[in-house]
Amino acid sequence: MRFKGRDVISIKDFTRDEIDHILKVAKEMEPLAERGSEMLRGRILATLFFEPSTRTRLSFETAMYKLGGTTIGFAEPEVSSVKKGESLADTVRVVENYADIIVLRHPLEGAARFAAEYAEVPVINAGSGAEEHPTQALLDLYTMIREAGRIDGLKVALAGDLRFGRTVHSLAYALSLYDVKLYLVSPSLLRMRREILEDIKGRIDAIETEDMEKVIPEIDVLYVTRIQRERFPDPAEYEKVRGSYRIDLETLRNAKDNLIILHPLPRTDEVSPEVDMTPYAKYFKQVRSGVIVRMALLALLLGAVE
Ligand code: NCD
Repeated sequence: MRFKGRDVISIKDFTRDEIDHILKVAKEMEPLAERGSEMLRGRILATLFFEPSTRTRLSFETAMYKLGGTTIGFAEPEVSSVKKGESLADTVRVVENYADIIVLRHPLEGAARFAAEYAEVPVINAGSGAEEHPTQALLDLYTMIREAGRIDGLKVALAGDLRFGRTVHSLAYALSLYDVKLYLVSPSLLRMRREILEDIKGRIDAIETEDMEKVIPEIDVLYVTRIQRERFPDPAEYEKVRGSYRIDLETLRNAKDNLIILHPLPRTDEVSPEVDMTPYAKYFKQVRSGVIVRMALLALLLGAVE
């Protein structure tokens, strides 16, 4: 198993053993997240964000600082030479002269793969259009282990925008490497991409449904997502599905006592704030896993740990 110098473009580039190894290294990062480390002293991370972000960019930066490294980058392409018409390929070939590793978020599917072909340094996909968000899937798995004690044997519902939500694309694939039962809960307009469904169905039991109420008593993990308004080609289509489901105390009436609710965040109105006070709500703890898992990835890709 070798991580040094690798790109992280799709979760499909990783075997279950490799994912388990990343999660194991993440666990070892827990104490370092508290007391800090000099493991990546002198190393530079570049964050190139062509789309809005709070958690992903800040958690990568935090992870780098906690390991003694430093960061450069932009969160608004308007202030970089992209504004002057510089191509992604050129931007990447310039930035790799400054940084040891690049984290890229871009509205176009395939952008991260494209960037990785040009860059000599590792490229991490921090979201490529509606396609994938592999590091989010890793932190989601890590949170399940932390909060539910395991992944194998879980019954997991992925709910909301399974069509345009990139986090659920990566997560569905990752979960299909484990022994889980998957419920895909969404309005029919927002069903899981066919190619992902075909792919995972060969490995695990995956049931598509619109009926949240029926699924709630069955599951151990409820993973809720935001409807990705910005990705709808037609605003009228968004209007048809907006507010089509909302998790509140009433929805959770028949939930198992140890149900955990996750959400990649940001949320709009799909999880009512009254749920925050319940023991089910783990989405803010999930944010912390983001730092831990990204510390592990940076250390592995930069060769500071094996
Ligand atoms: C997600 C994203 O950017 O895909 N956010 C995140 O990274 N946690 C989810 C979303 O925007 O709904």
